[in-house]
Amino acid sequence: MSDLPKTMTAVLQIGDGYSGTSEGPQIDDASKYLELAEIPVPTPGKGQVTIRVRMSSVNPSDLHFIKGEYGQPRVKGAPAGFEGCGDVVAAGEGAEGLVGQRVAFVVAMGGSGAWADYALTDAINCVPLRPDLRDEDGAAQIVNPMTAMAMVDIAKQAGESFVVSAASSQLGKLMVSLGRDLGLKPIAFVRREEAVAILKDKGAEEVFVTTDPEVAQKFAAASKALKPRVFLDAVSDQLSEQIFVAMPNGARWISYGKLDAELPKLTQMGQLIFMGKRIEGFWLTSWMRSTPPQDQMRVIGEVQARFVDGRWHTDVSSRLGLRDVVSQLAEALKNTDGKVMISP
Ligand SMILES: NC(=O)c1ccc[n+]([C@@H]2O[C@H](COP(=O)([O-])OP(=O)(O)OC[C@H]3O[C@@H](n4cnc5c(N)ncnc54)[C@H](OP(=O)(O)O)[C@@H]3O)[C@@H](O)[C@H]2O)c1
Repeated sequence: MSDLPKTMTAVLQIGDGYSGTSEGPQIDDASKYLELAEIPVPTPGKGQVTIRVRMSSVNPSDLHFIKGEYGQPRVKGAPAGFEGCGDVVAAGEGAEGLVGQRVAFVVAMGGSGAWADYALTDAINCVPLRPDLRDEDGAAQIVNPMTAMAMVDIAKQAGESFVVSAASSQLGKLMVSLGRDLGLKPIAFVRREEAVAILKDKGAEEVFVTTDPEVAQKFAAASKALKPRVFLDAVSDQLSEQIFVAMPNGARWISYGKLDAELPKLTQMGQLIFMGKRIEGFWLTSWMRSTPPQDQMRVIGEVQARFVDGRWHTDVSSRLGLRDVVSQLAEALKNTDGKVMISP
């Protein structure tokens, strides 16, 4: 720790706690939520590590969070950014073994965010990275890939086919290609016509465009034929409800994201009673708390192997320097062909 600078550049949260709004992850001006500052480099306590950040990613959860719409409260004046990769440069008691390692990490409550020169997190939130894995994949190694593995596993146990909304998102693409590799038949929903060919190429059995006026009828026919019993849904709007209604007996609508601000209305409560259908949520944080460490280690190994051998790839739409995040993030997010990556 003695070799480290005393201060660092960081992108700080302006808001505190929850905002009470539910607008979704869209932002038109990042300066409403973030500011650039020079603050002390965080010092690790027991079981914690300080990481010199190489690259951090911008996930929808970060945007929900800085707007005060996520599952944990904002901390005014603390650096933003949940996920990144970097080198462990200092460790508290019990975490010394990680010093010098390049790791992927997520920042939990009590840590210091990834949109900074240095981040602070618990050692258990770090994954040592194989040397042959790119920093771009390292910076998006935990949140989406682990979620993809966990949710496709749920789908696999329920039958041969499953439905994915916002399938052109990074997570959607990971799940569709993983489903194909496991011999399943993913049904994808996208909102842009240009994404159809991409999803077909990733292994989607059917791809529907949400703006097609006949999308609900077309899906109903596919649902009869393929009988998907799990709907992995990141949009959670009224079309999602229509998709769920058109699914067969025993179908599960698993909402794991709220990309659209529209709140869906339930139109067929009888399906819950008579057809054994269920509506539920998925949150990786809960999955990590409830999944034994040895199962998580197996998943982590498989995730890294998939990125190294090219079965998975992190698409990058733009790269921002830390000092440009506040002024350029909103513009950078307009290109949805991949992740916005931040480097110190
Ligand atoms: N619950 C969990 O544990 C968990 C874990 C990881 C991720 N997530 C969620 O998974 C979702 C995807 O995350 P990601 O990192 O893969 O996202 P991403 O690729 O960074 O961006 C989201 C993509 O979704 C599409 N999209 C945005 N708004 C939409 C809307 N209203 N309707 C349909 N599609 C829309 C956009 O693609 P196009 O422009 O091509 O349409 C956009 O590129 C997010 O909701 C995120 O919060 C949840």
